[in-house]
Amino acid sequence: MNILVTGSNGQLGSELQELSRSISDHSFFFYDLPELDITDSEAVMSAVAECRPSVIINAAAYTAVDKAERDPESAFRVNRNGAGVLAAACRDAGALLLHVSTDYVFDGSQPRPYRESDPPSPSSVYGRSKFQGEGLIGEIDPSHIIVRTSWLYSSHGSNFVKTMLRLGAEKKELQVVFDQTGTPTSAVDLAGALMEIAWRHDPSHHYRQTYHYSNEGTASWYDFAYAVMELSGLECSVHPVDSSSYPQEAPRPSYSVLDKGAIKRDWGIRIPYWRHSLATMLSHQP
Ligand SMILES: NC(=O)c1ccc[n+]([C@@H]2O[C@H](COP(=O)([O-])OP(=O)(O)OC[C@H]3O[C@@H](n4cnc5c(N)ncnc54)[C@H](OP(=O)(O)O)[C@@H]3O)[C@@H](O)[C@H]2O)c1
Repeated sequence: MNILVTGSNGQLGSELQELSRSISDHSFFFYDLPELDITDSEAVMSAVAECRPSVIINAAAYTAVDKAERDPESAFRVNRNGAGVLAAACRDAGALLLHVSTDYVFDGSQPRPYRESDPPSPSSVYGRSKFQGEGLIGEIDPSHIIVRTSWLYSSHGSNFVKTMLRLGAEKKELQVVFDQTGTPTSAVDLAGALMEIAWRHDPSHHYRQTYHYSNEGTASWYDFAYAVMELSGLECSVHPVDSSSYPQEAPRPSYSVLDKGAIKRDWGIRIPYWRHSLATMLSHQP
């Protein structure tokens, strides 16, 4: 099977690249900017003609959540239009589009983990751009599987864990918000789940599916920061504060835990607990 990955130098894309090195029975084609811009339909069509993929995994996205509030045009161009370009290319090539979306499509007002059937109501530009990307994929209707994830981190790129490691080494004390609850997700684990779906999907079936995938368990950003310090042995005290003490440009859902029942049931995917995956990542940090 030929698998084309876009956004391959990002957190998730880098983990997909690492994972592919241990897989010999499929061929992988990794692209990122500037070589392949997912909003450029001619470039996407020629990459597809060259690679003849059975699956395109879209790990490309505009992910600067706060900056998106000031630059909605860029967020919508990549997260909506780019998703649409890939959807059209997959439809024309008869390939499966495995697209990644976000917990920020929800506004966080629900008191229980979000299921795929719960109506999205994004409160940020980023969340709206990702939700419209999902919608455009549905309209163009290639065979598609959308996987929403949350609070992604990896040893590649910038993310909350790496910021905490840097601050924890520089400071004795740190304030972190406790009133936003979600689930940290290891990009290694998400990459593994996407690969499983890619190579186990039935090419004769037209998929129109959305799934939720994060690590197991729940945490606040405070819990997450505390665990980073604890597991990495940094002597930095973490103090809980509420979000009004830490204003950000983009509103975040106060609760965005995802229900993973469907992906576990349909694909038999086993999901590690968030602290376990965090400990694994930290044990490999230099
Ligand atoms: N990060 C999170 O906490 C989080 C949470 C929930 C869901 N997600 C979703 O998970 C997926 C992977 O996220 P990630 O954290 O791995 O993102 P990331 O690290 O920001 O990587 C995204 C990659 O896409 C590239 N890219 C941007 N615009 C592009 C374009 N027009 N054409 C081709 N490539 C382009 C970026 O290049 P540049 O760096 O040069 O821009 C980058 O290499 C995304 O769909 C994201 O929305 C992320």
